[in-house]
Amino acid sequence: MNYFMNQSSNSFAPRFCLALLFLVLSPCLSAKTLRIGLITPPPHIWTQAAHRLAADIEIESNGRHKLIVYPSRQLGNEAQMLQLMQTGALDMAILTAAEVSNRVPQFGALYTPYLAKNISEAAQVLRGQVAVSLLELLPEEIGVIGLGYGMGGLRQILSTIPVSTLDDMRGRKLRITPFEPIKDFYKLAGVAPTPMPLASVYDALANGQIDMLDMDLELILKLKYHELSHTLILSNHMMFPAVAMMSGRVWIRLEEDDRQLIARLTAKHMAWVIDQAVLEEDAWNNDVRNLGTDLKILQVGPEFFGDTAMQWEKIWVPKAAVISALQTELANEAR
Ligand code: BEZ
Repeated sequence: MNYFMNQSSNSFAPRFCLALLFLVLSPCLSAKTLRIGLITPPPHIWTQAAHRLAADIEIESNGRHKLIVYPSRQLGNEAQMLQLMQTGALDMAILTAAEVSNRVPQFGALYTPYLAKNISEAAQVLRGQVAVSLLELLPEEIGVIGLGYGMGGLRQILSTIPVSTLDDMRGRKLRITPFEPIKDFYKLAGVAPTPMPLASVYDALANGQIDMLDMDLELILKLKYHELSHTLILSNHMMFPAVAMMSGRVWIRLEEDDRQLIARLTAKHMAWVIDQAVLEEDAWNNDVRNLGTDLKILQVGPEFFGDTAMQWEKIWVPKAAVISALQTELANEAR
């Protein structure tokens, strides 16, 4: 199933420029129509949250404000959307914290392997003070206002070839979301990480360009990657946060009441995303186990990856000192 626009960079460049021109010239920016961009397809919970937010903004502002939702990277990839927000040409986005970590390495801490033991702990991390305080870095570092976290399901591995141990994966091409913490994780595990945007994954899997992919259960099921696969490794090795944000340039042009309204409603709907991811993770687990296909399921824990997580921390603790604060916060909450 392909919910995405054609990803050829040749055809994308003119469309991106047109979108940029349209956004810059649009009178909506100074008026009351805001735009929010995402890379996720329509059925995804982040996109659903954006639509709920849009409905609430219109209702609670008595029709003074409108929010138009652009899913499936219609406004560009995450790097491009971030750039558009920095210029003020795009108002809002819900982006992966992965893209944010490419600019603000402290966000890499959220990808510490096995930081959260399960989806409820992942939610706890994102609701905690340490993660929330990371959002305060965004205006200064990249010119956007962080309005709250959402998240996807925990990361799993889907393989077109049979896998029983990490040795079966060594040297194989494994699709990753393009960001450094996950790249380091697989490099250390001896797998060949292959950065690739979400929109290219189905075709790459179908034409044998990749042997495996790093993904969450929601998208495995909704985009039907499992139909092209042999083994699903339920590893839960990382959480996958989203960050809702607004352009700093747009933010300063809003009246204080409007800022409060947008901040409150965005926080509400991002909290819904986290609740939903927690609620659905069990159902997604059941669904993949009951597909009625030949998909082999391998449930593994941290030991599957040997000392990869420990080696990963050696690289990332110096870049993202907040890792130990996240670990301490979780440990304190467990007491
Ligand atoms: C991915 O790149 O795997 C991804 C991106 C956005 C939401 C979920 C997954």
